[in-house]
Amino acid sequence: MIVTIDGPAGTGKSTAARALAERLGFEYLDTGAMYRAVAILCVEDGIDLESDAAAARAQARPITFVDGRTLVGDRDVTDLLRTPEASRAASLAARHPGVRAALVEQQRVIAAGRNIVCEGRDQGTVAFPRAGCKFFLTASPEERARRRQQQLERAGQAVPFEELLRQQRERDERDASRSVAPLRPADDAITLDTTRLTSGDVLDQLEAHVRRRMD
Ligand code: DC
Repeated sequence: MIVTIDGPAGTGKSTAARALAERLGFEYLDTGAMYRAVAILCVEDGIDLESDAAAARAQARPITFVDGRTLVGDRDVTDLLRTPEASRAASLAARHPGVRAALVEQQRVIAAGRNIVCEGRDQGTVAFPRAGCKFFLTASPEERARRRQQQLERAGQAVPFEELLRQQRERDERDASRSVAPLRPADDAITLDTTRLTSGDVLDQLEAHVRRRMD
């Protein structure tokens, strides 16, 4: 069974997806890491992130996940994925239809015939429209910015709340209005507002839904 979890950043999506996969004994696919990996290599090689050359690069070097590491071809990019530069570059690369098509194709190959939780922005709408169970996680803008601020503080960076909220609003508008795979829930997705839920509550609810579908 394929389970999809989509939604904007700061909704607890990644934590929930990993933990859900573990509880169910499913594999886990972090599709954001794929956009980050392609973008990092394009930046390194001086390739314009919004050009067809970026799409060609995404097509030419498949991304694999081995023992918790992310590889592009045989290059291990795991330690480069979570930098602010990678986030910025990934959000640009993710706007290119050719990059998206190449990565969606790879996602389908990875997931074929498996029990897997696929997490991203377009997993229920584009990559796996026939997934067995689809979720869309949301949270209020303030709560998402608060969670992001805490995350940054843990990494030793202090950014004003209002600034984070402003950046987030801009990113949300860009994600929801882009012409390819705009961020939106699939018609048959279960939407869960995580604003007032603990990560444990979220996980319990997701697991209960999936188990009902598996019966
Ligand atoms: O989830 P994340 O922050 O690691 O995602 C990195 C970027 O890639 C972000 O700008 C959203 C984009 N993305 C996407 O467009 N589609 C996906 N399926 C996953 C991520």
